[in-house]
Amino acid sequence: MSFFKDKVAIITGSGMGIGKATALELAAQGAKVVLNGRNAERLQKAFEELKAKGHDVIAIPCDITSAADCENLIRQTIETYGKLDILITNASISMREKFENLQPEVFSQIIHSNINGSAFPAWYALPHLKKTKGSITFISSAAGMIGMPTGSAYSAGKMALTALAQSMKIELDGSGVHVGIVHVGFTQNEDAKRVLNAKGELVPVAPRPPYLQQTREQVAKAILRSIKSRQFKTVLTIVGKLNAFMVRFFPGLVIRIIMYSQKRMKDMYE
Ligand SMILES: NC(=O)c1ccc[n+]([C@@H]2O[C@H](COP(=O)([O-])OP(=O)(O)OC[C@H]3O[C@@H](n4cnc5c(N)ncnc54)[C@H](OP(=O)(O)O)[C@@H]3O)[C@@H](O)[C@H]2O)c1
Repeated sequence: MSFFKDKVAIITGSGMGIGKATALELAAQGAKVVLNGRNAERLQKAFEELKAKGHDVIAIPCDITSAADCENLIRQTIETYGKLDILITNASISMREKFENLQPEVFSQIIHSNINGSAFPAWYALPHLKKTKGSITFISSAAGMIGMPTGSAYSAGKMALTALAQSMKIELDGSGVHVGIVHVGFTQNEDAKRVLNAKGELVPVAPRPPYLQQTREQVAKAILRSIKSRQFKTVLTIVGKLNAFMVRFFPGLVIRIIMYSQKRMKDMYE
């Protein structure tokens, strides 16, 4: 029997992208899945897709940057399923703009989305995860290990997530609750994916080499493996693992490599 059979799992930001792929994988392995997102139409489509496959699923529209919304997300989950075993804080917004051009409120929005948007659901979920000795997984990025150009607020938010995960892991020692953080690498995005520009407008993601990207299904499977094995830190993709090693021992060199590859990418795509 699957490890995930009858486990109740919330995946924030699961109307599309990696969140939806993770929800599909969990449901396929027998979990009862709670979908979440702000766009009601997109969420409904994802809900219908899972329902059509015969999965046990509910969808709760809410904005994870609102503490009140997160309280409601957890309350509705408990009212429906009576328990919570797994929380995956996946929803977040990214960006593509140099720091100097970012409006302060946009910087703040991205930070808020990446750190409070994980901390708020985690805070409301924790009492329930303690009862089930469940699991909380924060979805981070390679940008959570080194500050990325045109990604300052995003990198800062993802790095803050590491601190949150570390503090929680230490504080929850002996509670039975698993805390994990998954540093996702380049992943094939949905066409609808948007990030913020300097003015806070939604724009397409910057192009990146296809051969460096994992599929969303590969990422979803890796997230499930990290939950099952109760791993603290998981780094995805070869480039991500190399980055983690290099950042640890040769951070200055990594920054120089990124500067060089930025110039190359500019020459290739502009
Ligand atoms: N794709 C990559 O290459 C990559 C690489 C490294 C890390 N990651 C990380 O992986 C996670 C998922 O990324 P993705 O590429 O799948 O993103 P995505 O395609 O943009 O999907 C993000 C999802 O989050 C939801 N969302 C965003 N803000 C929200 C909010 N305030 N409240 C509730 N839902 C919200 C969006 O739905 P609504 O707009 O309807 O709310 C959407 O369903 C993120 O944490 C990201 O940082 C991705």
